[in-house]
Amino acid sequence: MPRRTRATAVAVLLLLAGCSSDGGDGDGAEGAAGVGDPYFPKAGNGGYDVTHYELTLDYAPGTRHLTGTAVITARATQQLASYHLDLQGLDVEQVTVDGEPARTSRAGQELTVRPASGLSTGRVFRTTVRYSGTPQTITDPDSSEEGWLPTADGAVALGEPVGSMAWFPGSHHPSDKAMYDLRVTVPEGLTAVSNGELVSEKASGKGRRTFVWHTGEPMASYLAMLAVGKFEVRRTAGRVPAYVAVDTTQVAASRAVVGRLGDVLDWSAYNFGPYPFRSTGVVVGRAGDAGYALETQNRPFFPGPPDLSTFVHELAHQWFGDSVTPRTWRDMWLNEGFATYAEWLWSEDHDGDTAQEIFDAVYAGDYYEDAEDNEAVWAFAPGDPPDADRISDPPVYLRGALVVHRIRQLLGDDAFYDFVQGWTGEHRHLVVDSGQLKAYLEKLAPDDDWDGVWEQWVYGKPKPSI
Ligand code: TRP
Ligand code: ZN
Repeated sequence: MPRRTRATAVAVLLLLAGCSSDGGDGDGAEGAAGVGDPYFPKAGNGGYDVTHYELTLDYAPGTRHLTGTAVITARATQQLASYHLDLQGLDVEQVTVDGEPARTSRAGQELTVRPASGLSTGRVFRTTVRYSGTPQTITDPDSSEEGWLPTADGAVALGEPVGSMAWFPGSHHPSDKAMYDLRVTVPEGLTAVSNGELVSEKASGKGRRTFVWHTGEPMASYLAMLAVGKFEVRRTAGRVPAYVAVDTTQVAASRAVVGRLGDVLDWSAYNFGPYPFRSTGVVVGRAGDAGYALETQNRPFFPGPPDLSTFVHELAHQWFGDSVTPRTWRDMWLNEGFATYAEWLWSEDHDGDTAQEIFDAVYAGDYYEDAEDNEAVWAFAPGDPPDADRISDPPVYLRGALVVHRIRQLLGDDAFYDFVQGWTGEHRHLVVDSGQLKAYLEKLAPDDDWDGVWEQWVYGKPKPSI
């Protein structure tokens, strides 16, 4: 353990003094509207940490009407006279805090809650929000669609990066992970699939059916998913039980790839360390339900039959993104770089191009057919997207994967796999940033030039020379 020096002690005292000046009673005790994400400044909320969401939902696909009650358990990290929740659209009918009616106001995605009496630091409190309406489809800065996406026979809710606020109030930022219990009622004949484990499924009268899902491992809200529709469900028992739901029109076309779930998870666990959750699965909807696949926790979502490399990619995210989660959206490359590199490793291990060959092709501008696409890979540094509309651009994926390959080159194969498994093991279910990854590597291999890798490959815009 490094000793705490005098300078650090003084800094800590100053920090504490700074906090208490606006953490006292009265006007200063307002929880911040966001957690300071560089790309999504209003995402998440200051002054508390959510530990648990209990969501009770009723959805009628015919009218697209959603009725919900969210019980949000949180711990105050400062004195709070008022605090914010993120909620986009929907009508809020009532908010109570620990059973007492609270005053509320809304502005854009911010729902401000003023409890009858203030909350002191450390206090665990429960906010109950009753709401209803037609949930919105949110258009991302990069113009992809998320939030609540109506489908032919139901809907799917997908959250990356800020779509989850379209269907439940909360602190919608990856730095605030929580557990979830979801109880959702839909018309009989439809299935409601979510994250975690199915606790129960039963008829609830008047031609409706209720599904109860439990997520007992921390989950970032952008990974929360709800799919309502006509699904063929296959369940397997075992050490990590699987719940696989495939749109009934997509069963035959999905069979080959979805049937490889066990193989892909075994291969991933062999390379990345033990599977980080207690259950798994897949949800396959139809092409057009969403414009992309998403690594929703436990069970990734695919809009139509996945191809094998996308399947490998979304499952790899269970380690990189879902279990080990970026602290802010700036560190997206930690998700996409590792998940893309997983595709390269899969190829290498299954008689395809090696990761080195793919690295060389990307580096040489020989990866895409189109020269412009190859150039776009170098548009910006993976660790520093210029704006919110660029966080899922090729540099984040491909240059992110190049970083991972550089790490492998420096460490050598044996140490590389030890590193990957150590990194995922030590940060299981936590949030991390790029600096922590660098520090982890410096500790592991102090003689390698990690400053150089970070300066040139993570934060450098021009193509580094090799
Ligand atoms: N994370 C998804 C994947 O790589 C892609 C994605 C979907 C995405 N929606 C997004 C990335 C929004 C960034 C922002 O499989
Ligand atoms: Zn991805």
